[in-house]
Amino acid sequence: MEERLVTPIEVHKEEGRALRPRSFGEYIGQDKSKEKLRVFIQAARERGDSLDHVLLAGPPGLGKTTLATIIATELGTQLHIVAGPNVERKGDLASVLSGLQQGDVLFIDEIHRLAKPIEEILYSAMEDYKLDIIVGQGPGARTLRIDLPHFTLVGATTRSGLLSSPLRDRFGIHLHLEFYPVADLVRILNRSSRLLGIPLDETGAEELARRSRGTPRIANRLLRRVRDFAQIKKAKEIISSVVAEALLLFEIDFLGLDPMDRKLLLTIIEKFDGGPVGIETLASILGEERSTLEDIYEPYLVQEALIQRTPRGRLATRQAYEHLGLKWEKGPTQEPLGV
Ligand SMILES: Nc1ncnc2c1ncn2[C@@H]1O[C@H](COP(=O)(O)OP(=O)(O)OP(=O)(O)O)[C@@H](O)[C@H]1O
Ligand SMILES: [Mg+2]
Repeated sequence: MEERLVTPIEVHKEEGRALRPRSFGEYIGQDKSKEKLRVFIQAARERGDSLDHVLLAGPPGLGKTTLATIIATELGTQLHIVAGPNVERKGDLASVLSGLQQGDVLFIDEIHRLAKPIEEILYSAMEDYKLDIIVGQGPGARTLRIDLPHFTLVGATTRSGLLSSPLRDRFGIHLHLEFYPVADLVRILNRSSRLLGIPLDETGAEELARRSRGTPRIANRLLRRVRDFAQIKKAKEIISSVVAEALLLFEIDFLGLDPMDRKLLLTIIEKFDGGPVGIETLASILGEERSTLEDIYEPYLVQEALIQRTPRGRLATRQAYEHLGLKWEKGPTQEPLGV
């Protein structure tokens, strides 16, 4: 796949490392989630108990991994990281679990992608801190129960709807991360420009923030790319006109949409008269996986009210027509009510 500048997916391992906040104090925005976590962490510490299991849901790039590392830091315990899709055998997870210490944080990223038999190991581990291992084979096989220390599972998912209910119900704390408002992104960009030594003025920060799709990872990436542009153009400071000029070159419009987003909207509008069109049909026309459309492209387009998800498929809204400079000719009755 061609690399998109506005993808919320981490492109290089190094990408966010230097900028990753290390404490609640450095973690900007998401105040509701932060406040709740602070209370639960302090309470758990005062009781000398482990923190209840935490489920972090939300689109990519909003700071789930960052929050998991902060939770471990604030608890003063060790963080263990596992990527859901990489766990192939029950034994892999069993060995991670048996290596945990009292109070440790086990972070499972993309937890909705754990294979079912592996997921089932988590049920007793989360609920009773017990690990069941089957020893031997055939009629002689028996189950061994091992006691686990009280640990905290932090699960991250971009699709909480795909989580099975037995798993979801075992998380005592559910937090949903939201797209960041422009004001928070401005603060994130100011912090990043300080850390990276990039001269960013107020108007430049504002302009970048508006085009960052509510996503810190994208804001930081655009900042670096605009720095390259400013350097070549010999601009001493990144002001709004420099951002606008750079993003024109990068084909990112003032809402942060790139050519692929616009193609998606245009497909719905031109090929399906504005929709509704089924997600599978859209995916095959655009040559993308359905899950890529659902996880990567759509959340922001829905958030900006450019498309609507309806039971009959995707609809382009009046805002989408207007954003693309097209005339909206449909009567208001065609817009579904209350969806
Ligand atoms: N609240 C925040 N304040 C400042 N910077 C942030 C914040 N949240 C995220 N970032 C920045 O954005 C980058 C991406 O965050 P992170 O890797 O935690 O996202 P994520 O939600 O885990 O994404 P994914 O779903 O792709 O794993 C971080 O490296 C960090 O630099
Ligand atoms: Mg992550």
